[in-house]
Amino acid sequence: MTVTFDVTDDVGANGRAVRDRLLAKTTRSQELTSRTKELMNMGSAASLEMPFPVLIEKGEGPYLYDADGNQLIDFQIGFGSLILGHRHPVIQNAIADQVENRGWQFGLHNPNQVPLAEQIIKADNCVERVIFCNTGTEATMYAIRAGRAFTGKDKIGVFDGFYHGAHDYGIGGAHPESPRERPTYVPTGAGVPQAVVENQLLLPYRSGVAFDIIRENKDELAMVLIEPAQSSNPHLNDEIKAFLEELRAVCTECGVLLMFDEVITGFRFAYGGAQEFYGVKPDLATYGKSLGGGLPVGAVGGREDIMRLFNALGTDPKGIMSGGTFSGNPLTMAAGYAQIKFFDDNRDTLYPHINGQGKRLADGVNDYARQNNMAVQVLNAGSMFQIYFSGEEIRSSRDLAMGKTKAETDFYLHLLDNGVLVPGTRRSFVSFVHSPELIDEAVARITRSLDLVREDRLL
Ligand SMILES: Cc1ncc(COP(=O)(O)O)c(C=O)c1O
Repeated sequence: MTVTFDVTDDVGANGRAVRDRLLAKTTRSQELTSRTKELMNMGSAASLEMPFPVLIEKGEGPYLYDADGNQLIDFQIGFGSLILGHRHPVIQNAIADQVENRGWQFGLHNPNQVPLAEQIIKADNCVERVIFCNTGTEATMYAIRAGRAFTGKDKIGVFDGFYHGAHDYGIGGAHPESPRERPTYVPTGAGVPQAVVENQLLLPYRSGVAFDIIRENKDELAMVLIEPAQSSNPHLNDEIKAFLEELRAVCTECGVLLMFDEVITGFRFAYGGAQEFYGVKPDLATYGKSLGGGLPVGAVGGREDIMRLFNALGTDPKGIMSGGTFSGNPLTMAAGYAQIKFFDDNRDTLYPHINGQGKRLADGVNDYARQNNMAVQVLNAGSMFQIYFSGEEIRSSRDLAMGKTKAETDFYLHLLDNGVLVPGTRRSFVSFVHSPELIDEAVARITRSLDLVREDRLL
């Protein structure tokens, strides 16, 4: 099977040429893709949807290499889990040492858990105790259970534009016709039971009305979850700091727990995550991604009086169940500790570098788009960024258009052809090994791709 493009009359000369070039240089990826379609349900990783089907064979520093050997500047960087880039020696050595000398799965507590837990707790955050699991999805699932058990209430508050993992409470959005200030919740896709819908309270992001809604629902509301910077529209500014501060105060006033989902922002904005960056402390926080050094990980941490419920099953009516075959496995713990210890030891260079490079990329593209009158912008929250095909102000996910424009479709094909990988989710990250020179090169490739789309009169 070969990949075919639905080339319509709307595709210009550059659009046709890029499709032909991509087909010619990715023959092995195409062949493998056809086999994966026969063998696997690719929907199990729908968020991996690429502008074009390429399979990745190797990673090195800030680069990926596809199955045909094409080099790509990687801005997916393990969905944000590889803040030190691919195969950083510190992590590679920790993994090799564990595998060669001790083993990778015991199913029991192991010494590697202790220093990683200590590293999390010593950060400037709310964490007094921690539990480990395997993904950010699991972490938010457990945190929600703990929040409900502790408060004895069922409802969960989430902000429009949220993503808290793939379980029933982690997905959903605002009904597009619902009022901006009073959004109504709709699940993403089928299969989410009505009971979940009824217990999900959708709050308007960056709006004071959210505080009214929390007050109105405080008797049923167990916990409010927030990404301190939403990956759907990454911002990092004083207004968000003020919003988080007020959210903290309102939750305390209402007897509602506050959880920061730091799966992305944890150890990324600062060593203490968004909690240190903004100086706001929730009751619980969830972690994932970079905590595992690129291996699967999740963690819940928080106030001791809430966290103790994880250890109280059978002894306290509020005790909760948690556990998993791979939770806290020694290999992940070794890789995670190597990475987090490196972050801790190199705070003074790491955070200015990654936050600075995220800004450098955003400024480079935004300046070009402005000078050339292109309705394109990059939003960045430190090292997390996203490219949007819109010239309007994006305050929240409610300002985002649904679907992709023709310009966007062609842009990502050109970008891939120019050797830059931005994932299907569009969530993008720079790492410690993306040098300023590489960022400038990436900006040049991004703007060249925009020019090619414009020449075809799509932009
Ligand atoms: C804020 C947030 N929470 C939770 C998750 C889920 O984490 P995982 O993909 O490890 O299950 C993600 C993943 O992108 C996320 O961005």
